[in-house]
Amino acid sequence: MKKYIVRSFLIFILLLSNTIVNTQQKPTIAVIGTGYVGLVLGVCLAHSGNHVICADIQKNKIDQLSKGISPIYEPGLEELLRESLQKNTISFTTDTAQAIRDADIVFIAVDTPTKTSGESDLTALINVTHTIAQNLTSYKIICIKSTAPIGTCTYIKELIKNSKNSSCDFDMACNPEFLREGTAVHDFLNPDRIILGTDSEKVSSVLREIFSSFCPSAPVLTTNFETAEMIKYAANSFLATKISFINEIAHLCEALGAYVNIVAEGVGLDKRIGKSFFLPGPGFGGSCFPKDVTALLHMAQANNVDLKVVKACLDTNDAQKMHVVDKILSHCNGDVRNKTICILGLAFKANTDDVRFSPAITVIEQLTAHGAQVKVYDPKAMVTMKKVLPHIEYCASVEDALAKSDMVVIMTEWEEFKKLDLEKIKNRSHNPIIIDTRNILNTTTLRNLNFTYENIGNAQINSY
Ligand code: UGA
Repeated sequence: MKKYIVRSFLIFILLLSNTIVNTQQKPTIAVIGTGYVGLVLGVCLAHSGNHVICADIQKNKIDQLSKGISPIYEPGLEELLRESLQKNTISFTTDTAQAIRDADIVFIAVDTPTKTSGESDLTALINVTHTIAQNLTSYKIICIKSTAPIGTCTYIKELIKNSKNSSCDFDMACNPEFLREGTAVHDFLNPDRIILGTDSEKVSSVLREIFSSFCPSAPVLTTNFETAEMIKYAANSFLATKISFINEIAHLCEALGAYVNIVAEGVGLDKRIGKSFFLPGPGFGGSCFPKDVTALLHMAQANNVDLKVVKACLDTNDAQKMHVVDKILSHCNGDVRNKTICILGLAFKANTDDVRFSPAITVIEQLTAHGAQVKVYDPKAMVTMKKVLPHIEYCASVEDALAKSDMVVIMTEWEEFKKLDLEKIKNRSHNPIIIDTRNILNTTTLRNLNFTYENIGNAQINSY
């Protein structure tokens, strides 16, 4: 009998210690959606030692990712993906339901594109919500990473509450992401701040623990769902407005002989304004600014609020792309029909293969509509651009694109273009006019080599 009691006691201790170990075990994290945000989130969490299951409905993507191949070009991402696969901290599946069932925390990172009305399309988000409701086999934290209109978290919470088919509980959170394409891994691992919208203290402490696994010193601002959602839209709209503002000033610099780069520096040295994100260019593009600014305007309109500044930011951005087209036309006396124009750069910015809303698309479409012969080159974004504009001439190198071109237009600030051998280009029998929409070429060299050139806002190197 005594023996039996001792054995039972030992078994009890063993079970208890197991429970303690389990409760101390890291939670399993599911990330639904392996786009830019979801994939970087999943890979970086796995890299930081968390157990991550990434789910996506696109089988091709999941097959590639399982083999350690990233479907997007993003510096550093593929290396971390392979490392995490090797360490078994990440896995990929098309079985979203199973991933949800296996997880303690579910991050939703599906896309929320813009409808023609300007409103965000929440179809993917709502589909995932239904899958969560049907697979709530244990308590889970559901965290929305996707940029979604203000009110979405509250709406999704109600939707799960009303459609779940188990008695299991759940909590919601909103954790907007601020990473930039091209520097996504670095931005994710080194955020300026973490925004957390929640109505639960428990969620706040569990997610803070997760955040501390990759950026222990980043400030965490905790607030309600609506405020967290608004912070994302306000941040992107402010940054987009800053760009439109400097693009307008650049336009005026061209008219009045001031140098926009020096103006931006002089203005940006005021700490209240800041020098970063103040570069004039061909207009902002990408999957975020145009979409988020449009969605914010739509929300404002639906609530009878007139966001004049934000509206002007979009109008100025459209005008900026046309300003580049006007520059090109004016160098050809308005007629580009017999001209071969070389476009260097297709991606909406450097270090990405993303061409969504790229200003290069507008410029190329306008030039071909005006009858120009267009040749293009981009170090990474040719495959993606071919799907959008299949009928232009894609060149294998800068050299090929330059051959017999009457004009070179730099649309993306790739390192390769910053190092163009201008002397070699000038010594060709056919030397082109240069339009540098990213202000990356040395204006002193261009002038000394007697190029006909133009940039945005009359940018110059200060030589005295
Ligand atoms: C943007 C925000 O910067 C991120 O914080 C945010 O997380 C992301 O949107 C998102 O909502 O997911 P992203 O679109 O990847 O990131 O790229 P940015 O580096 O912000 O560039 C956006 C556009 O502005 C590009 O076309 C870029 O060329 C242009 N830009 C940027 C300028 O014309 N001037 C600048 O000084 C900076």
